[in-house]
Amino acid sequence: GVAERVEDLLGRMTLPEKIGQMLQLDARQDLSELVLEKLAGSILHTSPAKLVEAAELVARTRLRIPLITAEDCIHGHGFWPGATVFPTQLGMAATWDPELVEKVGRATAVEAAATGVHWTFSPVLCIARDLRWGRVDETFGEDPYLIGELGAAMIRGYQGEGLTDPTAILATAKHFAGYSETQGGRDASEADISRRKLRSWFLPPFERAAAEGCRVFMLGYQSMDGVPITANKWLLNDVLKGEWGFTGTLVTDWDNVGRMVWEQKVCADYAEAAALAVKAGNDVIMTTPAFFEGAQEAIRRGLLREDDIDAAVRRILRLKFELGLFENPRTPDAARQREVIGCAAHTELNLEVARRSLVLLRNDGVLPLPSAPSKRIALLGPNAHDVSAQLGDWAGDSGQVDWMPDGHPRELTTTVLDGLRSLLPSGWELDFDPAVEIERLVPDPDGETFPDGQPRPPISEGVPAAFEDLERARRLAAAADYAIVVVGDTVNLNGEHKSTATLELVGGQIALLDAVAATGTPMIVVLIDGKPLALPPSALQAAAVVQAFNPGMRGGQAIAELLLGLIEPSGRMPISAARHAGQQPIYYNQLRGQHGTRYADLTQDPLFAFGEGLSYTTVVYDGLSIEEPDVAADGVVRATVRLTNTGTRPALETVQVYVSDLVTSVTWAGRELKAYRQVTVEPGESVTVTLEVPAADCTLVSADGVRIVEAGDFELLVGPNSRPSALQSAKFRIS
Ligand code: IFM
Repeated sequence: GVAERVEDLLGRMTLPEKIGQMLQLDARQDLSELVLEKLAGSILHTSPAKLVEAAELVARTRLRIPLITAEDCIHGHGFWPGATVFPTQLGMAATWDPELVEKVGRATAVEAAATGVHWTFSPVLCIARDLRWGRVDETFGEDPYLIGELGAAMIRGYQGEGLTDPTAILATAKHFAGYSETQGGRDASEADISRRKLRSWFLPPFERAAAEGCRVFMLGYQSMDGVPITANKWLLNDVLKGEWGFTGTLVTDWDNVGRMVWEQKVCADYAEAAALAVKAGNDVIMTTPAFFEGAQEAIRRGLLREDDIDAAVRRILRLKFELGLFENPRTPDAARQREVIGCAAHTELNLEVARRSLVLLRNDGVLPLPSAPSKRIALLGPNAHDVSAQLGDWAGDSGQVDWMPDGHPRELTTTVLDGLRSLLPSGWELDFDPAVEIERLVPDPDGETFPDGQPRPPISEGVPAAFEDLERARRLAAAADYAIVVVGDTVNLNGEHKSTATLELVGGQIALLDAVAATGTPMIVVLIDGKPLALPPSALQAAAVVQAFNPGMRGGQAIAELLLGLIEPSGRMPISAARHAGQQPIYYNQLRGQHGTRYADLTQDPLFAFGEGLSYTTVVYDGLSIEEPDVAADGVVRATVRLTNTGTRPALETVQVYVSDLVTSVTWAGRELKAYRQVTVEPGESVTVTLEVPAADCTLVSADGVRIVEAGDFELLVGPNSRPSALQSAKFRIS
């Protein structure tokens, strides 16, 4: 069995060989040093040539232990030319559909496995809090329940039938935990979270991932209450391994062990840092080459015992045996790649996810565009034909891909321009002038200047639009029947260490929207962005607003289909949108008792609420009724609600079920999502939907940090989004 093979191999390893197994090093560096000198057990960010070289080097090592290869396949195998790039996690979350998300995980695993990748660093289970955080696009949004559902689905997709399946890859639940609770949205800043708060909101998606059998957890970069996560024994050992019974493997984030020396400065040297990390329960040490000498020195100094190293190495070897790497090192398979990379089935799935991810936020009736008589459309805005903005972070030429030889082939992505060109009915005219250049701010993350050395203006000023460009845009819009303006952000404004101080549309985009709005031509605003942005009045007064997030390779087609009414809009916001950056935090499940926290100059009402999204029809909710309002603690709250489609087009409705615990021993969220159902309602049809919430899910976290159900009165809130005004309510009691 695996356990015997692990013990046998471990028994034959020297201490340096064991420590080397714990190292995961950056394959873009000199591989011979990594494999022959540091004896690394794992590599990340690799390429086909590097994998061949690595295999040759491993064959020269004493024990020839196969390497395990890891990659950030976050929304598809984004760095592999031709691989399917799906909408980002935030876009996927807007579908609210675990089945689709599981299929994305499966397709990604199939493509990644064919390229020699054994392990993906996905899904992100952080809850989005401050929208200015640069990694909001990587999350499934702000709600722990929705994140848990979608995260579990993604993990199932990646890990398939189990690790012996050659198309399975290891999933990683990250970043454990509290990484998204930033200060001012700034990435990796110290997270000010009590243990109770962690258990209330941040841990549940991770607990769900552990229960789902997620094989790896990745640690956050940040510190919490003075302790770097890398050294947080309570979180790693007591909670994850103890309470949740996690027996998988831990990986640090990038140079977390080194950071304890050079950044957080809680260790004097690498020996101290290695000892602290290993004792806290870490296994795979990502990109800290100095861990190799540091851990050996820690043992010499008596800070660490070889037993501690053995425990970690056992967990790593077990993965390698379970993946069957000793029998089949799962190297890149060119024939298989031709079969699966970007194959028709994955492309079709991608289109379906993109369609389902689009959220129609405003519509005065302009959409869907009528198919006759023929019309003239002006297509404007920097994201109408920008592949990298559309694909988002961790994909194509997003800037994270400097190791990819040729980046993402342009012709594989359908931009909005491409989509409209191919789908507009004949006789329609489409005006798109590539000469209208609306600049977006390209901040230099490392300095106070742009990369070209020009001083950086305050971000809210951005780079103004040139007068001639605005004039051209104005002329196009004035001559058209409709103006479609595709604005948003760029990959320079999303991602690790790319948090923003504001949420405004940067560069000349506000001027562009204002100019188009002033023509009086009905304006349809499409947002391609990594997060919900704070929109200017001209966009808010537009005839329609579509939130597309980063919709992936097929996004432009899906958007064109939606505008032309070839599909029904069905996406729902997985995150609240703010009117202004100063509204942070704006998430819907805020604690009660906040009346004094209202601003004097701005409402706390979100611009668009969690769960919000329109259809091309109207669905009326009524008749919420609870079967038996007295529920035992081990019982289930069962309710029905009637949905009536009063319009002329079908709707895919997401019926959302929130619970409010009316009196709680501690302050608690006013309402929390506990369940939802997606149902199709045909025009004129009434359907009765059955809803269930187990009483055991109606929990809070007590003052002592224990998750409990407090008997008493509750309210079931059912409706199309989280706004109190949109919800039907009915009381129940848990005894
Ligand atoms: O997986 C990522 C992580 O999310 C952020 N830091 C780098 C890792 C590896 O690329």
